Amino acid sequence: MCGIVGYIGNKNAVPILLRGLERLEYRGYDSAGVAVYSEKEKEIIVCKTKGRVENLETKLYDNPIKGRIGIGHTRWATHGIPSDTNAHPHFSKSGKVAVVHNGIIENYMEIREILGSKGYDFVSETDTETVAQLTEYFYNQTGDLQQAVFKTLEKVDGSYALGIICSDFPDMIVTTKKNCPLIIGLGQGENFIASDITAILQYTRNTYILEDNEVAFVSKDSIKIYDDKKEEIKKDVYVVDWSIEAAEKSGYDHFMLKEIYEQPKVVADSLNRRFKPDGTGIQLDSIKLGREELSNINKVYVVACGTAYYAGLVGKALIEKLARIPVISDVASEFRYKDPLIDENTLVIVISQSGETADTLEAMRLAKKKNSRILAVVNVVGSTIAREADDVIYTLAGPEIAVASTKAYSAQVVAMFLLSLHIALETGKMTVDQFKEIKKEMEKLPSHINKILTKAPNVKRFMEKYIGSKNVFYIGRGLDYTVCREGSLKLKEIAYLHSEPYAAGELKHGPIALIEESTLVIAVATQEHLFAKTMSNVKEVKARGAKVLIIAMEGNREIENYADDYMYIPRTHPILTPLLANIPQQLFAYYMALGLGNDVDKPRNLAKSVTVE
Ligand code: G6P
Repeated sequence: MCGIVGYIGNKNAVPILLRGLERLEYRGYDSAGVAVYSEKEKEIIVCKTKGRVENLETKLYDNPIKGRIGIGHTRWATHGIPSDTNAHPHFSKSGKVAVVHNGIIENYMEIREILGSKGYDFVSETDTETVAQLTEYFYNQTGDLQQAVFKTLEKVDGSYALGIICSDFPDMIVTTKKNCPLIIGLGQGENFIASDITAILQYTRNTYILEDNEVAFVSKDSIKIYDDKKEEIKKDVYVVDWSIEAAEKSGYDHFMLKEIYEQPKVVADSLNRRFKPDGTGIQLDSIKLGREELSNINKVYVVACGTAYYAGLVGKALIEKLARIPVISDVASEFRYKDPLIDENTLVIVISQSGETADTLEAMRLAKKKNSRILAVVNVVGSTIAREADDVIYTLAGPEIAVASTKAYSAQVVAMFLLSLHIALETGKMTVDQFKEIKKEMEKLPSHINKILTKAPNVKRFMEKYIGSKNVFYIGRGLDYTVCREGSLKLKEIAYLHSEPYAAGELKHGPIALIEESTLVIAVATQEHLFAKTMSNVKEVKARGAKVLIIAMEGNREIENYADDYMYIPRTHPILTPLLANIPQQLFAYYMALGLGNDVDKPRNLAKSVTVE
């Protein structure tokens, strides 16, 4: 949550900061601002505003500022309402120090009180302002910015990625991080800081990934980095292989639509490298999860948040079904605080697109402390979760910009397919012949997704028919129920429609009371061994006036007897349907959001990377 970017070099910083902020808006978009050192005025000038980066751009157009060093911020509000005053950057008392911050300073009230008693007034309601004021306080005492920053960091508790500039040092950005991501981009005669590579990808792919408690002093020609013992360290350059095109809309109206249409490629990429060349099994990068390691595992936990959690539920179902190992699933924010029953014989699978989600990260750290084996399924290479896990499966989805996750979910589900097949093979619960049969079907998945995407106009028509819905239920059984949970989340996230996913058989134990004339019920019915059962639930809701849209596999003409509308997915192996059945749901949510006039890529109140707890 919150995106930060910084530039130091010979160019005007403002357009670079603005482009960077646009790319970071997925992290929050309650307000935006920049602070730039003006050589003319010999001071730091701040421009900030409530709302989107485009509002900031307009404000800057009317009040242009210029300078070769600057920091920028796009906010997801935590402390204080979205307003011009609470927008970052925040200033110190004299205006000498400006700060942008991602994260939460937990002891900010205490610091405010102490500084208040020393004559420091605070203008905003934010926790961040304390960092600016405290830095100035220590700077005034020591006359040394470096010492002032170190002393400030000793006093603040919480999570942060910080960008700090000081008008007495117009040739330096200070940056540090703890439990929030921060990278330094390396250029020629210029350097950058950013919450994530997409903000600076058009200028450089060479980066330093900052670890917790490291502090960097970034000039245009040099970068000095200190570890938590304040000793200078050398870091390896990490070269990012994402292309800039991948972070652009490429002619699509929205990133979400582009990312939906990228799924055939993402799934093909995810599969290509993962089958052994002789076709007898799976190769999971360099993961050491063979027969021997698995013989020590007696329990698996799947832990994640949001969409990643729903992809995890597919993994849970399949590991239990194919490998017959008990799997417990939990959202990370619950797992963390329940003293989970895990030990060195537990495999904990954490799933995260960003690799930075605060709850998932802390859940993983807890599991590590308890000596569990950690396998992370992560999209962002080099992210904190990827770095700290014992093993990583990268999901190869490329940058996902739309806040609502689509292609990352699909890549996570493919990873779950591969992992469960791998475990089943290694533990001898599946024969190579059985595997080969499934593999053959998996290889058809990219073309199956393409086929579903050609039906997008039908989904658009469903949207036109059901646009007036106030409540939407998603029902299904078994794997179909996991798909329903993701479909319902997507509709809530971007269409802002009340929606409930329900295990079809559970509906009659309460929620059926909410079904009335014309309530839309989406029934996912791809699991044919459960088909008759799900159809009896469909009949129950139809008898109470519901309109039913059914998603089923091609060839199952029976649904036409029950459905008001239907959509077929290509016939595939039953364990693979969670990937395919979700695509119409993504399209439905997309068109509903569009039809309702919502901002599809940046839905209200949400952020893509949730680095606060
Ligand atoms: C936020 C996003 C979701 C995402 C979830 C977990 O809520 O809006 O799209 O599924 O975080 O994020 P992660 O990066 O850990 O997958």
